[in-house]
Parts: sequence; C-alpha cells; structure tokens
Amino acid sequence: MKTDMADSRLAYWTCDERSRGFLVAEITPDVGMSPIIVGCVAFKKKTDTEIELNRMSVDYNFRGCGIAKVLLEKVNDLAAKLGCTSIYLVTTAPQQAAQNLYIRCGFALCSKLYLHVTPLHCIHGIKYVEMRKSLQVNLQKIPDAGDR
Ligand SMILES: CC(C)(COP(=O)(O)OP(=O)(O)OC[C@H]1O[C@@H](n2cnc3c(N)ncnc32)[C@H](O)[C@@H]1OP(=O)(O)O)[C@@H](O)C(=O)NCCC(=O)NCCS
Repeated sequence: MKTDMADSRLAYWTCDERSRGFLVAEITPDVGMSPIIVGCVAFKKKTDTEIELNRMSVDYNFRGCGIAKVLLEKVNDLAAKLGCTSIYLVTTAPQQAAQNLYIRCGFALCSKLYLHVTPLHCIHGIKYVEMRKSLQVNLQKIPDAGDR
C-alpha cells in the first residue's frame, strides 16, 4: 500500500478510467476528525471480459472488520459495469489469509499452480496461485408462489 500511496496521482491505475481503477477504503475515527485510508485495491481490465485484481491490502490495525470484503464488492460492481464476466488474481501460496478472503467472496482456486523463478529466486521458487470468480448470473428459475 505504501508504494502505491506514495504516488499521490496513482498515475498507472488512473490513466484510463474506462479500464483501470484504484479504490481506497476510508474511515473517520471520530466525529470531526479527518478520514484516514485503511485499505486499497486496484483493478485492470485485461480483455473484453476479464478484470485482473491487484494491490489488495488492509491496514494491519483494521483487519478482520470486513474492509476487504467491501472493497471486493465494489470491484464486482465496477467489473459488471465494464461488461466483464470474470475477475482473476494471482497471489502466492503462503498468503493463506488472502486466499481465505477470496474464497469467502466467491473466488475459486484455478487448477494451475505457477512456479515463478526469477534470477533472484532461482533456488527457492515462489509458488503463485491463480484464483478466479465468474460474474455470470445463474439464471435458475425462481419458484413463484404457485410452484410451492
Ligand atoms: C488479506 C487481507 C486483505 C484481508 O483484509 P481484511 O479487511 O482483514 O478482510 P475481511 O475482514 O474483509 O475478511 C474477509 C474474509 O477473509 C478471510 N480472512 C481475512 N483475514 C483472515 C485471516 N487472517 N485468517 C483467515 N481468514 C481470513 C475470512 O474468511 C473473512 O471472512 P469472515 O470473517 O466473514 O470469515 C489483509 O489481511 C491484508 O491486507 N493482508 C496483507 C496483504 C495481502 O495479503 N494482500 C493480498 C494480496 S493477494
């Protein structure tokens, strides 16, 4: 969060508002106080139908309050408005709290696991996990009173 927030104009994420965005969650600690930023998430439209999620982070002192869930709901809404039918993200295998969050919010692990090997990590590879959520509405018939 500090890296992106250091760029006050968030130029990368806001250079094309039709396909990218950077959302922040603010809280007002007390009446009359200025709001503070406690979480963020970024997204980018990668194809006509897919949004990639990035930069999900919540301030350590405000975790467990549902802030990430609210941020994800906002991204859902924006993705739907952009005509997208799925959201995906890549996280690392040890980030279990993040994986729990995404599963709780309707994402599923993709079967493919990535072993990312960079020059700096040529011995200890980091396992990346891809997760995906379909935004397609399940058009099941809703029973009306007469069916019951
Ligand atoms: C992961 C993270 C964004 C969660 O933010 P948060 O605001 O605390 O999450 P929420 O309060 O909205 O929790 C939503 C769900 O996530 C899961 N979850 C969140 N934190 C968890 C934890 N520490 N352990 C297990 N599950 C967790 C729970 O299922 C929770 O739902 P529930 O409380 O109804 O059961 C936050 O811990 C964080 O910033 N971590 C460090 C950065 C990071 O890992 N970012 C993700 C990169 S992909």
